[in-house]
Amino acid sequence: MLVQTLAARGNSYRFTPLERPSKPVGAKDVRIAVRAAALNFRDIQVARGSYAHAADQPIVPLSDAAGVVVEVGEQVGRLAIGDRVITSFFPDWIDGLISRKKTSATHGANSDGILATELVLSEEALVHAPKSLTDSEAATLTCAGVTAWNALFVQAGAKPGARVLILGTGGVAVWALQLSVAAGLDPIITSSSDAKIEAARAMGARASVNYRTSPEWHNDILRITEGEGVDLVLEVGGEHTLPRSIAATRPGGKIIVIGGLSGFGGARIEPHSLIFGAKTLSAVQVGSRAMLQDLASFVDQRGVKPVIAQEFTFFEADRAYEFLASGNAFGKVVITMP
Ligand SMILES: NC(=O)c1ccc[n+]([C@@H]2O[C@H](COP(=O)([O-])OP(=O)(O)OC[C@H]3O[C@@H](n4cnc5c(N)ncnc54)[C@H](OP(=O)(O)O)[C@@H]3O)[C@@H](O)[C@H]2O)c1
Repeated sequence: MLVQTLAARGNSYRFTPLERPSKPVGAKDVRIAVRAAALNFRDIQVARGSYAHAADQPIVPLSDAAGVVVEVGEQVGRLAIGDRVITSFFPDWIDGLISRKKTSATHGANSDGILATELVLSEEALVHAPKSLTDSEAATLTCAGVTAWNALFVQAGAKPGARVLILGTGGVAVWALQLSVAAGLDPIITSSSDAKIEAARAMGARASVNYRTSPEWHNDILRITEGEGVDLVLEVGGEHTLPRSIAATRPGGKIIVIGGLSGFGGARIEPHSLIFGAKTLSAVQVGSRAMLQDLASFVDQRGVKPVIAQEFTFFEADRAYEFLASGNAFGKVVITMP
């Protein structure tokens, strides 16, 4: 089998394709022919050496794969040869509440990931791919899709009509926009690009703010919501956006902390910004296999088609990373297999 290894650290993304012997399939394992892989901001961090849980040695990167089962172990019961499947982000978090044990293993950071022509994984670490999606689309559910799902519907319990503020138009944000529209929520989006704002409005964002031309954007959000604030913020911005996100939230509303696109350093949060208005600050860490399963069913039922910004081939992995890191993507960046 062929794998891509990430050989360089720093701000260049240099890959070395390697031929490796195929792994044997254990009793509860399946072999998958990988067809597509999706990138996330985390993968850029791993490549740059700024991800806290990354391995020191070169690894096979990425966590999000779609493929087809080509071999099954003798005790496999959930999957069969020919099934189209997607990887679950945490192979050991099947369902229930998060724990250290369930989230200690992931693909593509502290151990080898999925940028390979084939994978051998426990059948427990996989879910059937949505029937309505292509392989490239299906690969995007694993991290960005589940993170948006968990934040909106598990952590926040958002109901139709809820006013949701979504920051930026990256992979998690565009997934959140699509799920919000499909579920009848009332999404408001921020972006640094008027062209991306236009695209988000065409997809169903009811209101928008350009956070670059309007740096005090929390005031725009308050104005858009008649001075009250939004019910919920999907906080992907981190260091420089978190205090504004809190200010843009209504009394009793929720801020779900997801990321740090503007930095993961200390944001100055005054206790009163949460106390006055009894606002809830919580976080998500991707999600469980059960959440991935629920998302896959929802996608099929509601006809959600994930937005793919651009596809690259297996041998163009460096270009895929550069494109994601450029900030020009609207939606997901995908690598297709040879
Ligand atoms: N907690 C979790 O489990 C989890 C899971 C997935 C991702 N994350 C985190 O969530 C964040 C988003 O991940 P992603 O994969 O969606 O990233 P991404 O696709 O790389 O997002 C890129 C986009 O982020 C937007 N952005 C950049 N700086 C911003 C700012 N200051 N304010 C608002 N938007 C900004 C830009 O949108 P515009 O071009 O429209 O301005 C940019 O195009 C990352 O920090 C990642 O580490 C966390």
